[in-house]
Amino acid sequence: MPHDPAPDSSLSLLREGYSFLPRRFERYQSDIFGARLLGRQAICMRGADAGHLFYDTTRFERSGAVPGFVLKTVFGEGGVQGLDDAAHRHRKAMFMAVMTPESIDDLVARTTSLWRAALPKWESRGRMVLFDEAAQVLCQAGCDWAGVALPAGDRRRRAEDLIAAVDGFGALGWRHWRGRLGRRRSEAWLEDVVADVRAGRLETPDDRALHIVAFHRDHDGELLSERTAAVELLNMVRPFVAVSWFIAFMALAMHDHPGWKARLRTGDDADADMFVHEVRRFYPFAPMLGARVREDFDWNGHHFQRGTLVILDVFGTHRDGRMWPSPGEFVPDRFRDRDPEGFDFIPQGGGDPDLGHRCAGEHLTIATMRKIARILSAEMTYQVPDQDLRLSLRRMPAKPPSGIELEHVRQTR
Ligand code: HEM
Repeated sequence: MPHDPAPDSSLSLLREGYSFLPRRFERYQSDIFGARLLGRQAICMRGADAGHLFYDTTRFERSGAVPGFVLKTVFGEGGVQGLDDAAHRHRKAMFMAVMTPESIDDLVARTTSLWRAALPKWESRGRMVLFDEAAQVLCQAGCDWAGVALPAGDRRRRAEDLIAAVDGFGALGWRHWRGRLGRRRSEAWLEDVVADVRAGRLETPDDRALHIVAFHRDHDGELLSERTAAVELLNMVRPFVAVSWFIAFMALAMHDHPGWKARLRTGDDADADMFVHEVRRFYPFAPMLGARVREDFDWNGHHFQRGTLVILDVFGTHRDGRMWPSPGEFVPDRFRDRDPEGFDFIPQGGGDPDLGHRCAGEHLTIATMRKIARILSAEMTYQVPDQDLRLSLRRMPAKPPSGIELEHVRQTR
């Protein structure tokens, strides 16, 4: 396997962002290469076969795979992302139990009514920043749904902390430290909430995420520590708030492809699904996934040594022209006859979410995006004033610098 000669490529990864891996796959004319990353030996791979391999839990484990700067910002320590085997499946079942179709419908309905309720406020303002407003709506809806009280006066700062925790993983300096602070404050808040629920000082219905997490018995039969319970509760609310990224990307796609905006207004569910999938493929969000080799093995003539960090390129897999013709073009119709479940399409991971680490909230994400796409296209009008809408691939996670400013917002029904 080709090997990147740099003594350690971590800084190049941070500098080059989403382009770091694809550039090297091209340079080495190979879908797999070795490198030193984060002070460790790593194997980087892309593509459907690599994805299939990556989700083989007999070959890879997650424990020890996630670097500290990700744990201290977006993931949190002690959460489901770093568990393996029976302990993982047991904890994951707690998440999957919360994601029933009824529960997803409930959260989408809460989001819809809060969005509609916010429209008069947005109408009365000259301008609004879509990303920021979406984050506040999602934060309120997510907390209400989870059973966590969020007074309206706290909504903005809580949403900002959760967004900062996600935004901080791929940065050095201020953005990273802001992310750590956002995580610390969010965990402290929810630790108190969990303690109050356990002590009976706070009532919460037993079908709410707060109750389920607070009284969850882990694999060993014990309650989660307050800190871990807070981390897991955040693993439900934080990624829901992060759907703001996809909402901003949908607005960007509608701006660049007005024909699609019109089609969403009048089209059917199949059109909306194709649009949502293409947004999740085309726009850069989760850049890569990491795991560790459990025991030595060989695959396609390559040796994987125990303990090696293995990185799967999410963005590069979605932009590989062999699987996705004209990958740099936004073409939702490519999903018309295509199975979105394959390992060539992994915006929220791949495989079986009950058994592996695939995202617990993928159906929820899709349902929310579908609804907001409909609202943006059919229930409101707005203008997009001149602003910097360019997405830099060097910034992880990618984010339009303006946050998508809208003006002359009008509710149309
Ligand atoms: C895991 C993406 C929304 C809950 C993941 C993974 C990705 C991902 C890439 C890791 C897969 C892996 O490690 O193999 C996204 C994106 C979202 C999103 C792009 C939309 C912005 C959500 C939502 C929830 C959620 C709305 C819940 C409310 C989780 C959980 C995990 C996870 C709990 C950990 C699963 C595990 O380790 O077993 N997500 N996600 N995500 N996601 Fe999401």
